[in-house]
Amino acid sequence: MCGIMGCVGGDAVQKVYRGLVKLEYRGYDSAGISVLSYGNICTIKKAGMVSQLERELTSLNGTAAIGHTRWATHGSPSDLNAHPHASGKFSVVHNGIIENYSSIKEELIAEGYSFKSETDSEIVVHLLNKYYNGDFLMAVKNTVQRLKGTFALCILCADCNLIAVARSRNPIIIGRGKGCFYASSDMPALAGDAESAYVLKDGQIAVIGEDRAEVYGFTLEKQQAEFVPVAASQTDTQLCGYPHYMAKEINEIPAAVKNTLSAFGKDCENALKGLYCGVNRIILTGCGTAYHSAMTGAYVMEEVLGVPARAEIASELRSRGCVMGGDTLLIAVSQSGETADTVEAARYARERGAKVVAVTNVAYSALNCVADVVVPVRAGTEVCVAATKSYCGQIAALLAVAGALSGKRIDGLEDIASACAQVLKCKYVHALARLFTQSSGVYFIGRGVDYPVALEGSLKLKEVSYIPGEGYPAGELKHGTLALIDENTLSVAIITDRALAAKTTASVQQIRSRGGKTAVIASQSCISKELEKDAQVCIKLPDCPKYLSPIISVIPLQYAAYLAAVICGKNPDKPRNLAKSVTVE
Ligand code: G6P
Repeated sequence: MCGIMGCVGGDAVQKVYRGLVKLEYRGYDSAGISVLSYGNICTIKKAGMVSQLERELTSLNGTAAIGHTRWATHGSPSDLNAHPHASGKFSVVHNGIIENYSSIKEELIAEGYSFKSETDSEIVVHLLNKYYNGDFLMAVKNTVQRLKGTFALCILCADCNLIAVARSRNPIIIGRGKGCFYASSDMPALAGDAESAYVLKDGQIAVIGEDRAEVYGFTLEKQQAEFVPVAASQTDTQLCGYPHYMAKEINEIPAAVKNTLSAFGKDCENALKGLYCGVNRIILTGCGTAYHSAMTGAYVMEEVLGVPARAEIASELRSRGCVMGGDTLLIAVSQSGETADTVEAARYARERGAKVVAVTNVAYSALNCVADVVVPVRAGTEVCVAATKSYCGQIAALLAVAGALSGKRIDGLEDIASACAQVLKCKYVHALARLFTQSSGVYFIGRGVDYPVALEGSLKLKEVSYIPGEGYPAGELKHGTLALIDENTLSVAIITDRALAAKTTASVQQIRSRGGKTAVIASQSCISKELEKDAQVCIKLPDCPKYLSPIISVIPLQYAAYLAAVICGKNPDKPRNLAKSVTVE
């Protein structure tokens, strides 16, 4: 959420611009760049996507630059609210929320500082000017000590060819390149440019120049920074011939699942077994798509382990004061490992003595630092805001966890990647997408392990195409939502569990008798004549063991949502109002 890029050395403006393009998944409502040019700070910033800046880049020149791509929290996406915020000797970009900004703003206004934007971030630039007496680092220290809330900051000073960065609960990384140093919100934006990188810890400030980087605590005690190599591969952040990242990433599902399962080694298995001693309940948590994979994990774990397991939406887990203690295993699922609600839920669990497992796709993420054990998802970089391959990777990882904790390998796990590849070739997905676009609302229903998939199918469709709808337990439809069914609606039934197929088929019939159109996504053995006969579309999946079906049944739903977005003329990779890595609560 909000992408930050900085560079000191060489062609800083171009490097910052290139980085912002890669970071755009973190927010894309406005963007800007400041550059230090012969002792002056020049800034361009605009509402809209990063590419809006391209035409004016030639007017910027200098060896130190900072840039930002925004997801608005305070103040609408306008030119004035776009970052950087430049004033006096400084320019600042910020990711996070400064909670005490309004009292500081009043103080600064009373002291004669004038504000141009409605953002919480602008106070930072005025505080820097207030505390500056020729010592850049001291001004940064005094400023960050005033701030409450969450922040990753990147700061340019007119008096020196240096950039300062600071971190409090929002990610920021510094990278070492050839003749330059970088600052960035994530590692993939550095790939191909920086050779090594250091992920700042909470409470650290770093100062970077062309040939040096120094790391301090918030009270300016010098600290060690161990740089780790940055993988040079850039293919993850390139389209490789696909029209959109969403299409590319859906096609990468077989590899995501396969790589995740291969990464689950003996060490991880033993660490999980050790952690599980004394546990008598499991809570899985996450947000958005990750919450849906957490639900699947809970369904499977409760059945396989015979221990109560449930999924909680990460923000609600804390809001409702979920009770937990040393007998609880909290499994936090997050693609980015930076989602603030999920990271805070994990911290909440730790504070109460629960044991914490992180299931993440990003090895250096904040969530991993909170966890006792990290279970890697190896889906590769996911660029599209809507999660697809990471969801399948997460479920594969959770199945491996269930297998490790129960001491029995989940049946058929070794064949799941090839089943995914087979499902990618399924017929009638285009027809389903067209039906989506012709419907006033789309309702997804499923029972048991098919229910979280129904929720995910619904989320995917609304996220990328803005077609309204809901996911529902098939049995619950008749208790309210059935009132919405008419001939303009489409209901999609997901049926992969033979034991529940007859019941869900009955729910489909209830919809048909009220004039609603229906589509079916079902395993071969769950399809009856009755089910297929009046379906507008029937997508047949290969039969597979029950716990594995959520990995494959979601694929046609993801792809049909993608196609619906394209048919509706929407950009599936960057849905309106949304962002990936939501680092604010
Ligand atoms: C945002 C994204 C969703 C994602 C959710 C959780 O809301 O738009 O696609 O599922 O965050 O992200 P995480 O990185 O924690 O899996």
